[in-house]
Amino acid sequence: MSFTWRRRRAASYFVVLLGLVLVGAVYATITGSAEAATPSAPSSAQIAKGRQIFQQTCSSCHGLQAQGTAVAPSLIGVGSAAVDFQVSTGRMPAKEPGAENDRKPPALTKEEQRAVTAYVASLAGGPAMPTPAEVSTAGANTGLGQQLFTADCAQCHNFDGAGGALTQGKSAPALTESTPTQMYEAMLTGPEAMPVFNNTTITPQEKRDIISFVTGTRAEPNPGGFSLGRVGPVTEGLVAFLGLLLFMVLASMWITAKHRKTETTDE
Ligand code: HEC
Ligand code: HEC
Repeated sequence: MSFTWRRRRAASYFVVLLGLVLVGAVYATITGSAEAATPSAPSSAQIAKGRQIFQQTCSSCHGLQAQGTAVAPSLIGVGSAAVDFQVSTGRMPAKEPGAENDRKPPALTKEEQRAVTAYVASLAGGPAMPTPAEVSTAGANTGLGQQLFTADCAQCHNFDGAGGALTQGKSAPALTESTPTQMYEAMLTGPEAMPVFNNTTITPQEKRDIISFVTGTRAEPNPGGFSLGRVGPVTEGLVAFLGLLLFMVLASMWITAKHRKTETTDE
């Protein structure tokens, strides 16, 4: 094994590594842009459409006027943040009263989610869905976010957001798939057993610091390899990502094979 061979091998590993970093960067841009869809001010047509969806899919539990029933709470005044959180994480519409409301692929399309959110928000105020700027982690203090997370969230979600068991057979979910918007909304609205962290308890900037910490822990490579938790529902992105990954692996095999050949002819 000559010194130049080892150096060349190191160089080819570096090329592969660089390629992987590039793939990651491209992938982050693809998934990042999916989130950027800005909720514009709802039109009356959108609200009307939302009312129709509500009456078809939500009213059996929440009542025709969202006033609540024996099986589900009133939604008057819950705010757009609560509705968007519930429908974008697929928790609502619930399958049946009393069913576990876990995160699942949303049953409503993005457009339907926006319409039903606009309808419920039109009934009364309540905590509003954050804008993309409000959840932007640019310039956030990740260190402070970690301290806040440890103090306010870790007892349920684990120190790194991996989730954990609560009393009475309940559990707090892992935060691996939550988008920044969903994290902000969860804090603002306190779903189920989670407490509400309003903007006095945890200021908007502190919320961004926490989000920055949670998304940052995912970016760290874990010993078990890639964490697929962050892939989420963007299937096209996933396919592109896996395709590129396969390409990189084939390229690295080709480079190694080529170098072995060079080595045998050298000596
Ligand atoms: C099968 C019954 C059922 C259906 C259908 C249903 N929900 Fe719910 N919903 C519930 C129950 C029960 C709760 C309270 C338990 C919880 O928060 O998980 C709830 C809670 C909620 C909350 C949280 C309220 C709060 O105070 O934060 C929102 C928002 C919500 N539902 C919206 C909807 C929307 C929008 C739809 C239709 C797309 C819908 N639900 C369909 C049963 C239902
Ligand atoms: C007392 C326990 C408890 C504490 C403290 C708590 N949570 Fe939660 N959290 C929950 C439970 C339970 C749920 C699931 C609610 C449901 O399914 O309706 C949840 C859900 C969430 C979700 C939605 C996850 C997803 O993608 O579906 C996010 C995000 C979240 N919490 C963030 C936080 C953050 C950030 C903090 C600290 C500021 C925090 N939580 C503090 C119990 C807790």
